[in-house]
Amino acid sequence: MTYTVNTLRNMTRSCEQMRDRVKAIVFKPEDRKVLDLTFGPGMAADLVGRTPEALAKAEKEGRLAPPKQLGNGRRFYTLEDLTKIREALGIHAGKAPDEDAVIIAIQNFKGGVGKSTITKHFADFLALHGYSVLVIDCDPQASTTTMFDIQPESLLDDEQTLGNFLSPRSTFDEFPLAIRDTAWPTIKIVPSSLGLQDAEWDLTATLREGGQAVREGLQRLRIGISSVIKNFDVILLDPPPAMGFLGLNVMAAATGLLVPVPARQLDYLSTIHFMETITENIEVLEANGTPVDYGFIRIVCSAFSPSKPGENDMWKMMQATYANFLLSKPILASEEIKNATQAFRSVYESKPSASHATYQRCRENLDDVFGEVLQQVREQWPSQSISGRKSDAVASVAA
Ligand SMILES: Nc1ncnc2c1ncn2[C@@H]1O[C@H](COP(=O)(O)OP(=O)(O)OP(=O)(O)O)[C@@H](O)[C@H]1O
Ligand SMILES: [Mg+2]
Repeated sequence: MTYTVNTLRNMTRSCEQMRDRVKAIVFKPEDRKVLDLTFGPGMAADLVGRTPEALAKAEKEGRLAPPKQLGNGRRFYTLEDLTKIREALGIHAGKAPDEDAVIIAIQNFKGGVGKSTITKHFADFLALHGYSVLVIDCDPQASTTTMFDIQPESLLDDEQTLGNFLSPRSTFDEFPLAIRDTAWPTIKIVPSSLGLQDAEWDLTATLREGGQAVREGLQRLRIGISSVIKNFDVILLDPPPAMGFLGLNVMAAATGLLVPVPARQLDYLSTIHFMETITENIEVLEANGTPVDYGFIRIVCSAFSPSKPGENDMWKMMQATYANFLLSKPILASEEIKNATQAFRSVYESKPSASHATYQRCRENLDDVFGEVLQQVREQWPSQSISGRKSDAVASVAA
């Protein structure tokens, strides 16, 4: 054995021992995130889609339990109360039971454009509005997993992981067993674990076998999701910032595409490359017996700073380029988002980090942007669609 191999093996052994010691000390199940969300009457009414007066009337008539009260007499509702209100008033936000979940890939091959931040915030937004969500973290970096309070290291010895499900070498083939609870009652997650990178390599190895093996390798995630597609309203896929078999699995499984693009020149230019690559990859998928047909494709300008030189011009260029495919409002760059994600939370789970007004502005901006995506989602369900259309026929790009 060479000096190099010997040294690396010794280092690996030493790392493994340290990892086991850290795991025993750090990951205590009792440390899990507890959601402590409360809503005033105005916001509670807004989230269930009624007026505060309608809620007050239903409470007066005994159709709803009276709300909880603080010491100062202010009324408030919890997340569980919102669920009870929806049940009592027969409010159903999501799809019909026989319809399929809308599967959205938050996709761009460029790193650091806000994919995981958007995935986490959109999931929380949907849950607040009464939708059930499955988040699938397909990125070995596992930032979304961590934001849902699961430490990827805690899954080290776990057989029931996405990596094992996707790897053609593994015998674990019961996708639902990889789904875990989160602190949110209506958000589940398939977390990323360190084995996901191995799955990427195992899937790439199918290229040597060709034909059927490649097709199965491209469709593994789609097949897994099909076993739970009726159980959720929306399924969000957070892919890695590179195109490989994991990225292709995400593209093959998705039924809608949301592409975050910051208003920076380099990101804009890399998006041209992304568009080319994604088109070529769809051709690769189709050539391998995996047809793809997205119900909608939307670009979202992420982390927009109107005061930064050049960003306004880039925003105008994006409007001219993508026309109706661009969401009408950008996600603003915000310290609230930065601070929340650094604490592995979303803004929806956090208290204001600076002034209440700044926090409120950030939240309203996110609500506006996600409201527009939600509109697209609802269009995919015949039971909810206003126009009855299922595919994205009306959007068009500038000529
Ligand atoms: N609107 C925003 N305002 C402020 N900071 C933001 C905003 N969106 C994202 N960020 C910050 O930008 C950084 C990168 O975001 P994120 O991790 O979501 O990108 P990503 O595309 O998932 O990256 P990767 O490709 O590495 O997975 C994070 O530190 C995040 O907090
Ligand atoms: Mg990410």
